[in-house]
Amino acid sequence: MINEKLPKIWYGGDYNPEQWEADTWAEDDRLFKLAGIDVATINVFSWALTQPSEEAYDFALLDETIDRLHANGVSVCLATGTGAHPAWMAKRHPEVTRVDYHGRKRKFGGRHNSCPNSPVYRHYARLLAGKLAERYKDHPGLLIWHVSNEYGGYCYCDNCAAAFRVWLERRYGSLEELNRAWNTRFWGHTFYDWDEIVPPNELSEEWGGSNTNFQGISLDYRRFQSASLLDCYKLEYDAIKAHTPHVPVTTNLMGLYPQLDYFEWAKHLDVVSWDNYPSLTTPVSLTAMTHDLMRGLKQGQPFMLMEQTPSQQNWQAYNSLKRPGVMRLWSYQAVARGADTVLFFQLRRSIGACEKYHGAVIEHVGHEHTRVFREAAALGTELGALSDRLLDARSAARVAIVFDWENRWAIELSSGPSVALNYVDEVHKYYDALFRLRIPVDMVGVEADLSGYDIVIAPVLYMVKPGFAAKAETFTAAGGTFVTTFFSGIVNERDIVTLGGYPGELRRLLGIWAEEIDALMPEQRNRIVVKGEQGALQGTYECGILCDLIHAEGAEVVAEYGDDFYQGMPAVTVNRFGRGEAWYVATSPDAAFLRDFLGRLAAGKGLEPLVRASEGVEATVRVKEGKRYLFLLNHLPEAATVEGVAEGVDLLTGETVSGALAVPGRGVAIVAQTNA
Ligand code: GLA
Ligand code: ZN
Repeated sequence: MINEKLPKIWYGGDYNPEQWEADTWAEDDRLFKLAGIDVATINVFSWALTQPSEEAYDFALLDETIDRLHANGVSVCLATGTGAHPAWMAKRHPEVTRVDYHGRKRKFGGRHNSCPNSPVYRHYARLLAGKLAERYKDHPGLLIWHVSNEYGGYCYCDNCAAAFRVWLERRYGSLEELNRAWNTRFWGHTFYDWDEIVPPNELSEEWGGSNTNFQGISLDYRRFQSASLLDCYKLEYDAIKAHTPHVPVTTNLMGLYPQLDYFEWAKHLDVVSWDNYPSLTTPVSLTAMTHDLMRGLKQGQPFMLMEQTPSQQNWQAYNSLKRPGVMRLWSYQAVARGADTVLFFQLRRSIGACEKYHGAVIEHVGHEHTRVFREAAALGTELGALSDRLLDARSAARVAIVFDWENRWAIELSSGPSVALNYVDEVHKYYDALFRLRIPVDMVGVEADLSGYDIVIAPVLYMVKPGFAAKAETFTAAGGTFVTTFFSGIVNERDIVTLGGYPGELRRLLGIWAEEIDALMPEQRNRIVVKGEQGALQGTYECGILCDLIHAEGAEVVAEYGDDFYQGMPAVTVNRFGRGEAWYVATSPDAAFLRDFLGRLAAGKGLEPLVRASEGVEATVRVKEGKRYLFLLNHLPEAATVEGVAEGVDLLTGETVSGALAVPGRGVAIVAQTNA
């Protein structure tokens, strides 16, 4: 449990009373009660108020807010407020502002704008976190700490450059080793002194955000900046833990956010929390995948849905309203995939600046007679009734998909073979097929223990880190089914090519050699022609983006290319390895292929779809103490029939269900079953 003080699904969200006159607060208390809200995330952007000058601190308003909330039955997710430094700090210590990708020195403005390697920023952020922890350590309303906010962005200032050199020296030991790692004899880049090394941005090696002349340098800068921001988090974490060792600490992550290696970050979070902002057109399976990824960061431990909007955004291009029922539906989608909290940004809608058109539980009209409030209050009642039943329930997935941020960086930074290759899209294709088959998936990192899974899929594992190939071999030899794809096994963690034939370290396991890689033009397709019958997998499918030209070296050829000069060469292979098998999908296939291919693999492992239902119904499971909670989420506006439901009780209606079940449009069922 995240904190036993509140043994239910936490309900509430970001609350900024400091933006309001005191006469609204009593009304907030009343409305929170009416909506079943029991958690408020406070102090998120209050640094300028809690520290009005370099010498002075002022916690009067915070004291009052925490006391008031507590007296009204609302506990706090207490932020340290260091996500935006005060203006006085930027004026007195210009080093706290960042230098951007274009090499421009920033002035005060915005947020998330502090240089992570500024000693001044670090000093005052740590000091503030410690003061807050010391002050509120015994407050009965304190539930959890929220460090800073949505860490992100990179800095390219001189402080960062100096810290980068220190980081490199620690990583490589010597300039000789660094020159080797980055292959600096290319384009005459040999470094003879550490301070010849400068951050890679538009003034040096990079352009357009993800183009670089030197992948090694750019990759290391991403690692370094991610680690620098993480160091800032850790400084605050330690300052807090010195006073409240037993209160959990988190910082809100952003799902598929590209710039930080969240698997590294999660090691230092007591509980993962994240902010979920899909748009009307975001595929529901992408949101599902992101929840699963956030759950996977800490090996399946439940996470917090820290933010979602009750109704609309302000920062998307087209800020659609969440249709009636959708807020509830998406809240349960988070819970279904491992969230033990449902929190909003924001509880009361602000009156000025850029978030005044961002949805809130309490809208500008100020009362409870709105659609959004009614829906929020209804959900509050429901979550209250669920009590602690779902807390700490785990996933029961037998299939894992590997996701790795460094691999993602390396693919994005790669010059060639194709701009059309997008790592997240490729991973999502595999996920989406399993989602549609209603076969649960865990998203795991490359450090994960694979031994508990039946099937492990590592799409586009371009970068193979030390130890991974051996782990995949052990997993397969013990009977597992391993799948990887085109453009895998190409480089090591330095982005240096593994010589002797692709897919490098994975070649033995896969029993193939990829001789060449063809990049297809945007409209160009090839075909995957299956040889004979492979269960559901048969006939012809389309493929594109990249086609590896491979030779079987022991692997059985399951399908061949249908066109071009490599017609008849293998497109899909399987290699028996020990008691298991290792599959190679040499190209980016269409959805029909993945449905049939993954259906075939799952059937081979005895993995059945959770239920049968029409398109649009999401199904997943959480398990706990001999119980199995089957979540059925209907994403379409019309009712859907779900079949093959084992007997159980729907927690939301109290009704016993068995066999077939009708789920209303945008409706949800949570069927509690005995876990056989
Ligand atoms: C992020 C931030 C919040 C707020 C919301 C708006 O998630 O953490 O402070 O700006 O976006 O969607
Ligand atoms: Zn900097």
